[in-house]
This record gives sequence, structure tokens and C-alpha cells, in this order.
Amino acid sequence: MRPYDIILKKRNGEALSKEEIEYIVFGYAKDEIMDYQISALMMAIYFQKLSKEETLHLTKAMINSGDVIDLSKIDGIKVDKHSTGGVGDKTSLVLGPMVAACGVPVAKLSGRGLGHTGGTIDKLESIFGFSSALTEEEFVRNVNEHGIAIGCQTRNLVPADKKFYALRDVTATIENISLIAGSIMSKKLASGAEAIVLDVKTGNGSFIEDTDEAFELAQEMVDIGEGMDKSTVALITDMDQPLGNSIGNSLEVIEAINSLQGNGPDDLHELCLALGSQMLILSKNCNNEEEARAKLQSSIDSGSAFNKFKEFVEAQGGNTKQIDDPEKLPTANHKEDLIASDDGFAERICAKTVGMASLTLGAGRETKESELDLSAGIVLHKKVGDKVTNGDVLATLYANDTNKLEQAKNELESAYKFSNTDIQKRPLIFGSVDKNGIIKNEFQLT
Ligand code: URA
Repeated sequence: MRPYDIILKKRNGEALSKEEIEYIVFGYAKDEIMDYQISALMMAIYFQKLSKEETLHLTKAMINSGDVIDLSKIDGIKVDKHSTGGVGDKTSLVLGPMVAACGVPVAKLSGRGLGHTGGTIDKLESIFGFSSALTEEEFVRNVNEHGIAIGCQTRNLVPADKKFYALRDVTATIENISLIAGSIMSKKLASGAEAIVLDVKTGNGSFIEDTDEAFELAQEMVDIGEGMDKSTVALITDMDQPLGNSIGNSLEVIEAINSLQGNGPDDLHELCLALGSQMLILSKNCNNEEEARAKLQSSIDSGSAFNKFKEFVEAQGGNTKQIDDPEKLPTANHKEDLIASDDGFAERICAKTVGMASLTLGAGRETKESELDLSAGIVLHKKVGDKVTNGDVLATLYANDTNKLEQAKNELESAYKFSNTDIQKRPLIFGSVDKNGIIKNEFQLT
């Protein structure tokens, strides 16, 4: 086989065989094929697209380029949840303990944040002593003993994706649904889950802004999961405004603790019930959504989800005094309020701009090497649809570096758009995709 012939075939719109796809993926992972040839192939794929069959072959080859985690020593059906990423998305911190408290094992490998979206591991590291650097034995033991572990990826999972992603990033070939779906699903499937619940975000704070495209991506990912005999369900959820009220690492842990105690924001709570019920159903812990929602709600009402969170934090070395008293979590030395200068209704709070403002404050990483300020961030006091009166505090910014506060405040101000009249909110959940197809929730935006 020659890379040239494969590029030519795809350029001319023909389907590639399993063998050709494996030749490309393994050859590139081993540095045997040149960047310039893979660049040309990615561009050909961008324009000519991949069929479902080719996408499945690509995903399988990517998985086989590295290690696959074996979770068979963990009792029960392991269901993983994956979010395509957003601003203020602390769902895993709340959902994990809720699901574990209902008796479903949560064996989660998470990452760190880059750019305007945060990472679960960074958030958890704002708890003093917390460690995500578990060996495979510790990870398995913690899930078996405590029902939940969240570890940082150390094994050589899907090395091919690292190379392909880095190249796509600089050759304007990220935005192809098959390549995105293959990239995300290969990492999820290599992490060993038996069933997968996907939270596919749509809106300006996610990397798929258009809702129809988000459904398309969700369908592609569900097809890959099902094609590999893993039950897969996707919810398409809003990321046009941040999720919940807090953005920033320790601020998000505080909000997660409040949610686990039944005092969290409505959107975060609803999303946890919606995603969690799919996890309980896929793990055969519950038969239907009604039963699953009731069980998840009672994990909050009884305190078992909060206690599970504390147990999990302690098992991974974290200081539970900070969980009982969140004021002991890292706090910034300076804060500044953003004040409304008129009456009206909050019509839009651009999630991406809020994410960029929190990045300016130090809550996110501009490059992989950037140091985080775990206490920096933003708390929104008004969300889309809320009535605003001149003089109200719209949001509070937290930072240790006062120089950053003014710039971030200006950025944050530009995230808001107001209306004189009551506005119709976007839905939190646009619909779902499973092996039976797409269900779109009914709603109408004016
Ligand atoms: N995230 C991924 O992991 N891969 C993509 O291709 C896009 C987003």
C-alpha cells in the first residue's frame, strides 16, 4: 500500500477499506507516514466525508493504536458519561456521587482543561490533598470499595488520536463530524466502559454551535458505540450560557457541594437527573426514567450522594473538612461586582465570552503549560430570562491578581445582552439520540 494511492482514492470520493484505514492509522502513529500526506488525507476526508463503515474502522484502528483499559475486575455494569465540554460544566462532580449512591459503579478517567472550558481533574484538585494519580490497581480497588473513582489518564490510550488531533488542529480539519466522533469515541471506548451516556453540548460555548450539527455528531457517536456493541445514548444539551452559576475551579466545587446538598442551581440539577437516569437505565439498575429520576432525587434528599462524595474525596486523599465547610476551599483575595446599568431582562449570556473572562482571571489554561489559579473565577447572579433592575449585581469576579480584574470585567460585560421585554429561554435539553434514532424535544425560539 502507498499513502499516495489512499489520498487519491479519498480525494476522488471513493470509500477506503478497513485495511487502508488501518495502514494509515498505524503507520502515522509509528511515524512511518509523513505529516504532509496525512494533512492531505484529512483535507480530502473533510470534503469527501467518511461513511459510517469507514468511521467505525477508523475508530477501531485508533483504539488499537494503544492500550485498552480492562475494567472487568470491577463488579457491575460500568457506564461512563462524557461531555463534549463547556463553561461551568461541573456535572461529573455531582452526577458521579449521585449515580454511585444509587449502586452503579462509576469508574471515570478525566482530563484537565484547556482554553475556555474547564477539566474535572483541575476542579477536584482545588480540594487540598486530592490525588487523581491512581495506579490501575488503586483505581479498581476504589471503585469496588467505594463505588466511585475519578482518575487522571496516565496509560498510553489512543496515541494515534494525539497525533491526528494535533495535525487537524493546524490544518483546519477539526470540523468534520466523522473525525470528531471517531476521536472522542475512540478515547471513551479505550477507557473500558460497557455503556456510554454522551452529553453533546450545543451553543456558542461548545465546539459545535449549531443544534442540527450537534444532533448529527450525537448520531455518529451513538452509531460508533452501538457498532462496537456498547449501549450508547446521547442527550443534546444547551451550552449557549454557562451551566449553573459558578465558573472556576474551587467555585465550581462549592456549587457541586451545594447541589449534592439539594441547594444547587436548577439547570445543573435537572441535567444530573436527565443524564443520571440514562446511566441507571443502561446499567440495568432501573427499568425506566421515572423510576431512575426518583432514585437519583432520593440520593440527594437522603444525603447519600453527599456522603458518597465525601467518601470518594477521602479515598483519594482529599481533605473532607473542606467539603463540610466549603469556605475552607481556596478563595481569591480580591473580588469585584459587575453591576447592571439599566432595567430589563437578561436575554443572552455568551458562554464563550464568560469562559474567556474566567481564563483572563486565571481560572483556565491558555496553553498546556499555564499555571491555574484554583480560586479565580466568576459567579453569575443573573441567568438568561431573569429580570434585571438598574443597580443589581449581575456577577461577581474573583481573582488574586487585581490587574486581571478590570480586563475580565470588561470582557464579562460584553457577554450580556438585555431585552426590554420578557424573553423565551432556550431549552436545557434539545433532545436525545439512541439506537432507535433521534428524538427532538418540541420548542420554538422566537
Ligand atoms: N474533541 C476531541 O477529543 N476530538 C475532536 O476531534 C474534537 C474535540
